[in-house]
Amino acid sequence: MTQKLTVCTTCKFSKEHAYNANGETGGEILLKSLETLRDKRETRLKIVGHECLWACKHSCTVLLEDEKRTGYLAGYFSPEDKDAEAILDWCAAHDKTEDGNVPFIEWPQGMRGHFIARIPGKAEGETR
Ligand code: FES
Repeated sequence: MTQKLTVCTTCKFSKEHAYNANGETGGEILLKSLETLRDKRETRLKIVGHECLWACKHSCTVLLEDEKRTGYLAGYFSPEDKDAEAILDWCAAHDKTEDGNVPFIEWPQGMRGHFIARIPGKAEGETR
């Protein structure tokens, strides 16, 4: 099954500032960090950027989708490598499951308190 992680590229750098000193949003920084760290791992995770996911109050936000398994919208991330590592650890744990439901005991510490919504996977034969 194919996982896709969508990273909001327009999420703010911090509560006070939309951009850092280089003119980058928090989402742009997080996206770059995720891509760099993903490339150091053995994973088939696809990562894409997308403007606003309509969860702006919870920024930085990401959406993990899958062909059939349960997906997740998560947020309250900082544009830092430690948060990117936690997101990638979550994606790896998710990829080991049949249905996308990761047992709580296996949740990376850095993901606890970050989930906003569960996205139901597609049923057999369903197209969206
Ligand atoms: S700006 Fe990131 S969810 Fe709206």
